[in-house]
Amino acid sequence: MAYREIAKEQALSLVGHKHACHVMLYAATDAKLFGRIPLKHIVLMQMRFDGLLGFPGGLVNPSKESLESGLSRELREELGMAIDVSPEDHFSSSLSHSGPKLVAHFFTKKMTEAELREAEAAAVTKATDHGLEVMGMVRVPLFSMKNDGGFPSFLSHSFISNSRSQLLSALRVLELVSQEDVEAAVGKADKIRQ
Ligand code: GTP
Ligand code: MN
Ligand code: MN
Ligand code: MN
Ligand code: MN
Ligand code: MN
Repeated sequence: MAYREIAKEQALSLVGHKHACHVMLYAATDAKLFGRIPLKHIVLMQMRFDGLLGFPGGLVNPSKESLESGLSRELREELGMAIDVSPEDHFSSSLSHSGPKLVAHFFTKKMTEAELREAEAAAVTKATDHGLEVMGMVRVPLFSMKNDGGFPSFLSHSFISNSRSQLLSALRVLELVSQEDVEAAVGKADKIRQ
């Protein structure tokens, strides 16, 4: 589905559109894979009920709740704990110009590694959606191995709506992965997908 970026205020003034809010939770880490590859950052996505990767979050009703409180409600359902998201965490809003009239609002929120681990645990032990709408949270491998393992292979999977673009632009803008490394991984993923 094709999306274009739109200002948040303009998106909220649209009549007859549904609004979805999703968030990329991430944290810095000192952990090393195989004791030698520094992971640097942990980034969370989820495996959805439909077999597609996406971010935690969901539909909100802007006439009844703010985007941020609607997103927090969805996070309670999908992650089993309260995670406050503020207007400053807004990253982008995108308008679909084919298919259903939907605005996808995207947020990014930095947490500590301990907070992020708590959310991962709660997603299994406390979230009402676990095993139903959400099959599990997943960490995104951000490193690239020689055989296209890691980030390129992850990007070759199937993603819901524009969540793959949301992931790529957030990684670039927040400087979690360099522009160069993102482009290289996307190129390899495209080859795997063929
Ligand atoms: P229900 O509780 O069943 O209503 O689901 P939900 O509120 O959790 O909705 P969901 O998370 O599926 O998001 C609503 C719509 O937004 C979906 O129909 C998807 O098309 C779209 N969507 C889902 N996840 C993402 C995502 O990570 N990014 C973007 N851009 N869109 C998403
Ligand atoms: Mn092992
Ligand atoms: Mn939901
Ligand atoms: Mn959801
Ligand atoms: Mn919902
Ligand atoms: Mn639901």
